[in-house]
Amino acid sequence: MKKTLFVTLCIFCLVAFSSSAFAAKGWRAGKKTYKSVCMSCHKRGGEAQRLKLNQWSKAKWTKYFAEEKKGKHADPWGQLTDEEKDNLLKYFHKYAKDDHTRLGCG
Ligand code: HEC
Repeated sequence: MKKTLFVTLCIFCLVAFSSSAFAAKGWRAGKKTYKSVCMSCHKRGGEAQRLKLNQWSKAKWTKYFAEEKKGKHADPWGQLTDEEKDNLLKYFHKYAKDDHTRLGCG
C-alpha cells in the first residue's frame, strides 16, 4: 500500500516537473535563437547596438515582430521559421518592460 502511494507520488512529481520544463522551453529556445541570429550584429562592438529587451513593452515587441523586415533585417528574419519567431517573441516578452513574472520562480 505504501509503495503504491510512493509510486503515485513519483509519477505526479515527474509530470509536474516535466510540464514546467516544457513551459520554459519556448523562451529558452528563443534565447538561443537570439544569441545565434540576432547577436551576430547586436553585440558589443558589433554593427548594431546590443538590444535592451526591457526597452519596450510586450505589446510593442509583438507589433515589432509583426512588421515586415527590410534592409539589414530582411536576411536574419527571413531565415527564421514561424516557430523560432514565436519562441523569440516569448523570450522578448519575458524581459519586456511590463513583465514581472521573472521576479517569481518562472
Ligand atoms: C545583419 C545585422 C543584424 C542582424 C542579424 C539583426 N539586426 Fe537588428 N538591427 C541591425 C541594425 C544595423 C539596426 C539599427 C542600428 C542599431 O541599432 O545600431 C538594428 C536595429 C534593431 C532594432 C531597433 C529597431 C528600432 O526601430 O529601434 C531591433 C528591435 C532589432 N534590431 C531587433 C533584431 C532582432 C530581434 C534580431 C534577430 C532576429 C536582429 N535585430 C538581428 C542589424 C541587425
